[in-house]
Amino acid sequence: MATPPLDVSASVVREFYNRHPFPDFDLGKYALGEDLYRCANSYALLLDSHLPRDASVLDVGCGTGQLSSLLALKGRRVVGLDFSSASIRKGLALRDRLGLENLELREVDAGRARRPAGEERFDFVLVHGVIPCVPEPQRFLTQVTSEFAASRAWLTVGLYNRWGRGVLRLMRRFAHRQGTPGGGVDIAVPPAVDAMLLSETQDPNKVDSWIADQLEPAFERSHTVADVCRWLDACDAQWVKSLPGLPGDPGKSAPLFGGAGGKPPRGVLARLAECFWLVTLRDTGGYFVVVARLPERA
Ligand SMILES: C[S@@+](CC[C@H](N)C(=O)[O-])C[C@H]1O[C@@H](n2cnc3c(N)ncnc32)[C@H](O)[C@@H]1O
Repeated sequence: MATPPLDVSASVVREFYNRHPFPDFDLGKYALGEDLYRCANSYALLLDSHLPRDASVLDVGCGTGQLSSLLALKGRRVVGLDFSSASIRKGLALRDRLGLENLELREVDAGRARRPAGEERFDFVLVHGVIPCVPEPQRFLTQVTSEFAASRAWLTVGLYNRWGRGVLRLMRRFAHRQGTPGGGVDIAVPPAVDAMLLSETQDPNKVDSWIADQLEPAFERSHTVADVCRWLDACDAQWVKSLPGLPGDPGKSAPLFGGAGGKPPRGVLARLAECFWLVTLRDTGGYFVVVARLPERA
C-alpha cells in the first residue's frame, strides 16, 4: 500500500531539517567512540549510564544520530528513526566510521512507521526534541508507542516548556539576519542568546544548525506539564518523573529508570515550580524531559 503524503506542516519540518540537520557535527571530529563521550551533553551521558547494556532502544527523531551512536557503543540494539534524509545520511556516515553494526537508522515518518515483520519491540522509547515540531503530539506518541514499545517499556519525552521557553521567545524578537563580509548570511543575536547557543558547542557545523533550530524553526510549539499528562493518559502510560523534578514526582528519589509510576504532580506547588521554569530553564530554552512507564502488553 502506498504511504499517504505528509501533511503540509510535516513536509515543511522535514525540508527544514534537510537544510539544517540537527544537532549536526563535523564527522572529522569523531574517529573513536571516546569522541562521542567527549562531545556528549550531560543528559546523553546520564541516559547512557542508566540504560542496561542489554536494552533495546528506539530513538524517535534521532536527527544526525549522535545519541543513537553513543547508546550503541556498549553493544545495545539501537534503532533511530528520522524523516530527514540529510540527517540520516550523516548519522549513517558516523555509524559506519565507528563500526556500530548494532545500530540501525531508518528514514521514515515516525508517526506513520510500522515495525518490519518479525521485529521485536523496544524496552526504551526515546522521543527527544521531536514533539515541538510535531503537529499532533498525542496522536504521534500513541502511534509510536503502540507500534514499537515492549510491555512495560520506558518512555522518555524531551520537549520545550511553555513557560521555560519564554525567555528564548522574547530574545528571538531581537535577533536579526545580516550579511557577512564573505557574502554569506549570519544571524545577529543578543549576547545572552549567543552565549546560550555557543555554550552548547564549539563545533561550527553545530552552531549553524543550533542557531537555525532555536531562532528560526520551521514549526515549533511549546507545551505544559498538563499537556504531557494528557498524552500519557492516551498512551495508558504512567508518569514517573520529570527532569528537572517537580514537587510530588512519584519517582523522584528512584534511579532514572526505577520506581513506580503514579499520579503526575498536579498540585499548586507543582504548578508554581513549572512557572518558575521561566527562570531556571532559560539557559536551555525551556527543555525538560518526562520519564514514563508504558503499560503491560498482553
Ligand atoms: C530538534 S531535532 C531533535 C534531534 C535529536 N533527537 C536531538 O534531540 O538532538 C528534531 C528531529 O525530529 C525529526 N522529526 C520531526 N518530525 C518527525 C517525524 N514525523 N518522523 C521522523 N522524524 C521527525 C526531524 O527531522 C529532526 O531531525
